[in-house]
Amino acid sequence: TDLREFIAGLPKAELHLHIEGTLEPELKFALARRNGIALEHATAEEVRASYDFDSLSSFLTVYYDSMRVLVTADDFYDLAMAYLIKAAGQNVRYAEIFFDPQAHTSRGVPFPTIIGGLRRALVDARRDLGIHGELILCFLRDFTAEHAMSTLMESLPYRDWILGVGLDSDERGNPPAKFAEVFARARAEGYLLTMHCDIDQEGTHEHIRQAVEDIRVDRIDHGSNAVERPELVEAIKERGLGLTCCPVSNGWVVDGMKGPEIVALLDAGIPVTINSDDPAYFGAYVAENYERLAADADLDRDQLVRLARNSFEVAWLSGREREQYL
Ligand code: ADE
Ligand code: ZN
Repeated sequence: TDLREFIAGLPKAELHLHIEGTLEPELKFALARRNGIALEHATAEEVRASYDFDSLSSFLTVYYDSMRVLVTADDFYDLAMAYLIKAAGQNVRYAEIFFDPQAHTSRGVPFPTIIGGLRRALVDARRDLGIHGELILCFLRDFTAEHAMSTLMESLPYRDWILGVGLDSDERGNPPAKFAEVFARARAEGYLLTMHCDIDQEGTHEHIRQAVEDIRVDRIDHGSNAVERPELVEAIKERGLGLTCCPVSNGWVVDGMKGPEIVALLDAGIPVTINSDDPAYFGAYVAENYERLAADADLDRDQLVRLARNSFEVAWLSGREREQYL
């Protein structure tokens, strides 16, 4: 509990957080009622009890199905505001927040509805709670490159509200190379680039190599399988790329939090960060991710301070704002 207070007190940035992954069962019921949508479970407890993921795809099925309740701009506002209140309460000062527009536009929710609601929450939270949030648009890698490209085009009128683009969803058979053209265009439009290289997925080392060397990303989401290949560790280090690790998420999707791997990368001089990924589904916001990793990998206070500082160092912040946090 001493360590818990220490972690709570550390100023933190969160850099790997899917806003749709913050949909708590209670809010899901409230939005379903508001929108007249029937749910298969009767109570929030029942929903939580049904969470029993053993792979990325078993999680994604539940994650996408839950999004049915997100319909109006107010729904996206309420979703983001609930996260920002929770994060501010854990001393998160700055958050770069993923959103999955294709998971909504493909259901008939217009792009402006999604981003309009999210952005309004970020503006209000910065004013009222003092937490600064920004958006990263993620493409769904199990959709086509053409669909990603048209989503990129749809985002351009909102260029000032989006820091960069990412790549998420089912990695199997969907390597970074599939989106080379989309990411080149995104960079040309001034977006920063990141991509998920999920833990222990088929082809993960080649996917990390493509992201770093071919796409030339500015960051990697997860990516800790790099530790198994010295040349990948070297390439990531040489480019100064941060990794956004999500220990509790790892524990659900594969069979462990990957504590030793995360520590080895930290010791190799890579700016590793700790994040929550999909906290409503994995049952842990960012502070609990630090706590669980600290217990699992026996971290000391210096290592925890380093992880929290890394989160500001690899954040896509202006120099002046970064200094304010460090
Ligand atoms: N979408 C939401 N969470 C994800 C994760 N952990 N991996 C891939 N896609 C995701
Ligand atoms: Zn993720």
